[in-house]
Amino acid sequence: MRPVVVAANWKMHTGPDDAGELARTIARRTAEPSVVRVICPPFVSLAAVRDALAVEDPRVAVGAQTIHHELQGAYTGEVSAPMLAGLATWVILGHSERRRDAGETDALVGRKLGRAVEAGLRPILCVGEQLEDRDAGRAESVVDGQLRCALAGHDPAGLEAAGLVIAYEPVWAIGTGRNARGADAAAMAEAIRAAAASAGWPGGAADLPVLYGGSVTSANIAEFLAEPAIDGALVGGASLKADEMAGIVARAGLTAQARLGPESAS
Ligand code: 13P
Repeated sequence: MRPVVVAANWKMHTGPDDAGELARTIARRTAEPSVVRVICPPFVSLAAVRDALAVEDPRVAVGAQTIHHELQGAYTGEVSAPMLAGLATWVILGHSERRRDAGETDALVGRKLGRAVEAGLRPILCVGEQLEDRDAGRAESVVDGQLRCALAGHDPAGLEAAGLVIAYEPVWAIGTGRNARGADAAAMAEAIRAAAASAGWPGGAADLPVLYGGSVTSANIAEFLAEPAIDGALVGGASLKADEMAGIVARAGLTAQARLGPESAS
């Protein structure tokens, strides 16, 4: 059975002075034990969020938004996976904003994936097509290519043991207020599992969690979580608002409890 995950990608928002308070408020408003919650602040705010969550609710995990593909060296401004020890236990990889702004390729994302696993970080690997790809009917082939390239050379059993999560984030839906339709996101989630299965993922990739990301809010999360293929959300803008996160995680809790069965009802 796949977990239900709600991950907050704070992008370039919050500094050490305000991140802890926001994390604490979100943790308090989302205390749903059946949902895996992750908060991913900027690097400089990781320690503040870690400290705040340790007090408020240690069940909320801390994630970074990227890592470098090397362990150390002359890479000005970069942060490597081992440097996150004690600060984060998750990491977002291959976000489309990094593909766009930092020139990250699928192959580079694949190298980062290896670093994350070596360091014991749980990766959220982002894939997603551009609008012109969807309009041209090649969304699934683009995502299939991104996934295969990033997974190439990695032992699928090792990635599974590391808890790899895939986030399907159509680029045209990020920060635009225009979200994908639930059925389209679900079809892509199944295509992602099929691609992983054909790359050797154990068990036909039935256990591979796939999240949806792209203008997720408390008002539209139900459309995605009504789809059994979708296991949660990677939330951008709305994750900076405690009210929004409360609504999103509350809805995720319904899905998680339904998956766990009647014994889970408290
Ligand atoms: P928005 O929710 O702001 O569209 O961002 C989605 C995203 O990029 C999460 O990683």
